[in-house]
Amino acid sequence: MTDRHLLDIDRLDDEDIERILSRACALAAGATPSDVAATVANLFYEPSTRTRVSFELAAGRLGMRVVNIELERSSATKGETLEDTVATLEAMGVDAVVLRHPESFRVAQLAETGTGVRLVNAGDGSNAHPSQALLDAAVLRARSVDFARLKLAIVGDIRHSRVAGSGLRLWQRLGVPDIRLAGPASMLPSTPPVPAASLHDDLAGAVEGADAVMMLRVQHERMDRAGWPDRETYFADWGLKESDLAAAAPGCVVMHPGPINRGMEIDPAVADGERSLILEQVKMGVFTRMAIFEWLFG
Ligand code: CP
Repeated sequence: MTDRHLLDIDRLDDEDIERILSRACALAAGATPSDVAATVANLFYEPSTRTRVSFELAAGRLGMRVVNIELERSSATKGETLEDTVATLEAMGVDAVVLRHPESFRVAQLAETGTGVRLVNAGDGSNAHPSQALLDAAVLRARSVDFARLKLAIVGDIRHSRVAGSGLRLWQRLGVPDIRLAGPASMLPSTPPVPAASLHDDLAGAVEGADAVMMLRVQHERMDRAGWPDRETYFADWGLKESDLAAAAPGCVVMHPGPINRGMEIDPAVADGERSLILEQVKMGVFTRMAIFEWLFG
């Protein structure tokens, strides 16, 4: 049994957060990776490009052995439970499982069974995506952003976003004083989830004076729901365009965890423009996940 897991930001103490962020930045700046003698399995019950591949690349750079479970060819298709799958992997010598699951809190639930493998939450339902939050913070840390003065706008489907969930908990912990949450009413929480957050019903109000704007993916899988805006309406009201950024702080950067819907939540000119940190986030994802593995086995 182990209690060393990455479940969410609120399960990390300040020292853990600082260690992961500073190590991710050091690795990005060329520090020598540690050797981690461990085997990790990627177990994804939902699709992923960035998270799965970057955990695999991170493990490889640390000399870890990686097993990618192809879910559609695994015994999960025969009805094997998650608990049994993980116990089976543990019996074969797997030390850690990077787990993405559609149910909120499913990774924490598995940790409570007392599994002997170290669990990394790679996204659970609409609850948490801690490695994404950490890599986003590492990107700004690497650019010497002063979190204590940061004005951050987060725009889109805040209510259902696990990226926003973990991000908000982390930005609050890092002392960000001004977090503007903006989106259609159906995508906003009813009250600000953390003390530093405020709710905005228009994009302009959220972006005004912001140092960083984080756009969130509109989830097409939900778009057929009654009351959800169509693509054109959403882009007109909430899609980030160059013109929206005129009122932002000079040097304002644009972030997005990906995958992006071009022409829906973000204009391609902004996604590919000079303010965009989208690919920098992807790159820092590998270094942050290396830092997470070093912490997990440190
Ligand atoms: N940001 C993110 O989680 O992307 P993937 O779904 O591609 O892993």
